[in-house]
Amino acid sequence: MSKVRDSIVAGLVLLAGRGRRKPRKDALRTVPKLDPNPGAETWAILLFFFAALCAVAFIVVYAIDSLPRHTQLLGLSLGLCLLSIAAALIITAHKLIVTEELVEPYSPEEHPNEQELIAQVVEESGDRLTRKRLFKLGIAAAGGTLGLAAITPALSFGPFLETRYFLGTPWRKGRRLVDDKGKPYKATDIEADNFYTAFPERIPDQDKEELGAALVLVRLPVDSLRLPPELKGYDAGGIVAYSKICTHAGCAISLYRAPLFQPDEPRPALVCPCHYSTFNPADGGSVMFGPAGRKLPMLPLSVDAKGFLRAKGNFDGEVGPSWWGSRIWKPNP
Ligand code: FES
Repeated sequence: MSKVRDSIVAGLVLLAGRGRRKPRKDALRTVPKLDPNPGAETWAILLFFFAALCAVAFIVVYAIDSLPRHTQLLGLSLGLCLLSIAAALIITAHKLIVTEELVEPYSPEEHPNEQELIAQVVEESGDRLTRKRLFKLGIAAAGGTLGLAAITPALSFGPFLETRYFLGTPWRKGRRLVDDKGKPYKATDIEADNFYTAFPERIPDQDKEELGAALVLVRLPVDSLRLPPELKGYDAGGIVAYSKICTHAGCAISLYRAPLFQPDEPRPALVCPCHYSTFNPADGGSVMFGPAGRKLPMLPLSVDAKGFLRAKGNFDGEVGPSWWGSRIWKPNP
């Protein structure tokens, strides 16, 4: 344990640079004097700078979504960064820092000479380093860029990087609602106390995975609707459509609380099974219970002359889990 402690103290004091106290010139050495090891030192410095390069690469890869094998490149750059830092530290510990184990009786009171002794140990431990400034620069570059790489994913909350993806949905005025086999829904297909999943007609299968594609559809008695003024006319004779993606963390809304079990469950509800966020389909999708921070986005519906359900426009709010700006920006029309 004392070795580890001494190494940590030595590292911190080395990084602290000029602020430390110089050991007495006339003091006897505590740590044996060994020759510099320029080869190992060069390797350690190179590895620190290579780690910095990998961390920068991680940030660049993260910012360019369109790169092929994006996830693998992220893992590779971060993995190489951490491995390089680990290798540099191992070389430093084994080849560059001179260590000496001191066995001392425990002193109940702080001894004024103790600090001087530690400063001396630190100074002498770093004797083998001949390019201390470059070495420190390498450590600072690796640590700093790794720190930046670690906080880069937070930028995904926006608005600095690519966030258009969250703002777009495939829903347009006039687009028919279809089931997972592509069969268009008629208004008469939607029965009360039942729950349907719908997609926009004629989009490729992979686009059905888009956040904004999937809907939940339910039919409610018209006189039970309590839509706010800005959502008046969003229902089609009591049929209401909401985004299937929970606004808490993006799971699928896959439970519908209907029929009811009075008096405990007095109203129908759309439920996300992940953390049990519960939304009210009768009033525009407000949160009745659970951790979701905002309502479910609602899609305006109409019924065409042949009885098919069609979108009257886009959602009234941002689809998907909440993120920076999700309450500010509206979906693309
Ligand atoms: S993701 Fe829906 S409740 Fe958490």
